[in-house]
Amino acid sequence: MSKSVFSADLLEGKVAFVTGGGTGITGGIARALAEHGAKVAITSRKMENLEPMKAEIEAGRGECFAVATDVRDFEGVEKAIAATVDHFGKIDIVVNGAAGNFLCWSNELSANGFGTVVDIDTKGTFNVCRAAFEQLKENKGQILNISATLHYLGTPMQIHVAAAKAGVDAITRNLTVEWGRYGIRVNGIAPGPIEDTEGMKRLLPPNLKEALTQKIPLKRFGRIKDIEDSALFLCSPAASYISGVTLVVDGGHWLTGTGIG
Ligand code: HXC
Repeated sequence: MSKSVFSADLLEGKVAFVTGGGTGITGGIARALAEHGAKVAITSRKMENLEPMKAEIEAGRGECFAVATDVRDFEGVEKAIAATVDHFGKIDIVVNGAAGNFLCWSNELSANGFGTVVDIDTKGTFNVCRAAFEQLKENKGQILNISATLHYLGTPMQIHVAAAKAGVDAITRNLTVEWGRYGIRVNGIAPGPIEDTEGMKRLLPPNLKEALTQKIPLKRFGRIKDIEDSALFLCSPAASYISGVTLVVDGGHWLTGTGIG
């Protein structure tokens, strides 16, 4: 475990359900929650994408339950939530990280390509929040939705993702207003360019990395740890009066325009 500014028992007694929790940014969040005392259930479409993270969390003496499901399938999500409650007894924290992405010009994108990403990101986020509602209500829990900054301005070749993440931000705000009465907090994180992620590998040709770095006010790419720390803060008692916020963690990048030029 790398040095953390948060205490190791920050989330002791909590159970988190993390979609897309096997890899990338959300994998890092799952590991960080476990390193700070939470029991963690991780989901992905394929079990093989979960097993290495489960082993890593357990090697760090954390508790991890891996369950394969597709967030687009509401019944499958309900079963994964039920299996987690069977395994750990409850759910306090939901992290919606499952996401689809590829680059495609709008005039070449098929309706199904657009719909597929909206289904994974937006409908998937709704499905998980909806299926976890009774648990979140019972435990005065919280939701963390992983968003993006792509939709703050226009981002070429990302119409499907921008639309999907705008929907995710709407879910964050709507559920804040509706579910606050149950003691449920709902927040988001909008990561900027984060190195060593599948998203960056798919979206950024290696020869453009330096140009993008120069465009970021803090002159570096984000690290998965930057997002982990923001997630720990938002899940901690220090954020107990914060709801409805999507925290931008991008080194100031989006304010310079979302392209790289
Ligand atoms: C154009 C594409 C395409 C591509 C898929 N489609 N890939 N269209 N260009 N590269 C179209 C297909 O042609 C099809 O439409 C439709 O999408 C569904 O494709 P399938 O392969 O059947 O779908 P499925 O297997 O369910 O999922 C495909 C996928 C998914 C959405 C591409 O595999 C995926 O995104 N994986 C990446 C996971 C990932 O990297 N996640 C991190 C996201 S990072 P037709 O019409 O042909 O049927 C992120 C960060 C953003 O979101 C912020 C960065 C700064």
